[in-house]
Amino acid sequence: MLDLHEIQSTVLRLRPAPYVGSHVALRVDNPQGGRELLRRLAPHVDSATNWWKPANAWLSVAISYAGLEALGVPQASLDSFPEAFRVGMAARARELRDEGVNDPKNWEKLFGGGRIHIGLNAFSDSEEKWRRVMTMARAQYDGLSGVTVLDVQNFGLQPGDRNSLGYKDGIDQPAIEGSGVDPLPGQGRPIKAGEFILGYPGEAGVPLPMPQPEVLGRNGTYVGFRKYQSRVGAFNRFLHANGKTEAERELLAAKLVGRWRSGAPLTLAPEADDPALGADPHRNNDFNYASDAQGRKAPFGCHIRRMNPRDTELTRLTDVNIHRLIRRGTTYGLPYDPNALSEADDEVERGAMFLFISAKAMATMEFLQQEWIDDGNFIGVGDERDPIIGRQDEGATFTIPKAPVRRRCHGLETFNVLRGGEYFFMPSLSALRWLANLGG
Ligand code: HEM
Repeated sequence: MLDLHEIQSTVLRLRPAPYVGSHVALRVDNPQGGRELLRRLAPHVDSATNWWKPANAWLSVAISYAGLEALGVPQASLDSFPEAFRVGMAARARELRDEGVNDPKNWEKLFGGGRIHIGLNAFSDSEEKWRRVMTMARAQYDGLSGVTVLDVQNFGLQPGDRNSLGYKDGIDQPAIEGSGVDPLPGQGRPIKAGEFILGYPGEAGVPLPMPQPEVLGRNGTYVGFRKYQSRVGAFNRFLHANGKTEAERELLAAKLVGRWRSGAPLTLAPEADDPALGADPHRNNDFNYASDAQGRKAPFGCHIRRMNPRDTELTRLTDVNIHRLIRRGTTYGLPYDPNALSEADDEVERGAMFLFISAKAMATMEFLQQEWIDDGNFIGVGDERDPIIGRQDEGATFTIPKAPVRRRCHGLETFNVLRGGEYFFMPSLSALRWLANLGG
């Protein structure tokens, strides 16, 4: 069993449905102010104890490398963090394939320059409880000398709980050994906890390297934060260019993701949407790809088959269980609009912000970006990229296997543009107190 009382609740607790919340970005101007903030916040940060029981609202705290420096963490300890975390997400742009429109030079000013030191994440299942948790959070940092609020990004409250391209999301998550809950049908075998939380054996049988001292590293984890702007006009234009009727467009939208917008997987509902299936957590993820070896239901290149190929035969022998991430996706801005078709619609403030959580989040994100998002050879679709999150060059295509001949859709664009991101460390509750008490 994991030390649930030590692990921050966001690591294990699922995003509620419906949900509402905020990501708050803070800067530490002097170590005393930063430590005082952590001292004040620590009692309000929920642990993962009973994470499977519905909760009202909770708060988590994550700290960037620049934040650890600003808090005055000793150099020997700073040096014990992995290189990619130390240099930050923007400096790893090449490894992450964050190029062209996604290049850090095009990001929102907030991101990329080591500006964000502390990230607070507030999740809630109702507007009223969100207001309450934010009032409590603000009481800790507003007016606190030595700490500056850089930005507050609110998310959630989307009609029908759909994401920025109109899909139900947040369905599949990796099952984690020792987390206290049996996997749901289709979740796969529980993965060793050390893949997600520091201090426990991983899939290779030994714990991953942990930041030092042990009180700082154990029960902590890493978070890759990514903010995307959804180009809803471009997405809809692609559907219209390749689908004459509403039914054809909805099928194409399902083929791009591997699920209908309701969440129903194409492997179980290949011909028509089945909203009851999409809504049922005991059935909506209960599939593998054995019955779809040709990709005629879920195309090989669709988003979910790339992001979790399950039992798909890959061109290179790969253990898919070591490339999983816990996803806390959140949708912000105006809701998806199926009638938005203009270029002006691409600029409307709406999209998704993600927390990707794992004990090796940096390495996993770099692997995913290089091999499974920005390339298609691993799954036999040549140099096609992920149709949802890939950065597309002119002439990009999406292939739908079909008998007697496959269909190739043209005019694929970059539907989600990266607006910024950062790597964070999400410490245990003991580590939060250790950080708060640095310097005596
Ligand atoms: C705005 C950008 C994105 C959109 C609109 C999007 C949309 C979706 C949707 C609709 C699903 C299916 C429902 C579910 O299982 O939750 C899904 C699943 C998934 N997505 Fe994304 N996604 C986005 C970005 C990303 C990114 C950046 C990653 C990883 C680097 C990612 C990784 C995954 C994974 C791992 C799954 C589950 C696949 C499975 O286990 O079957 N997504 N996404």
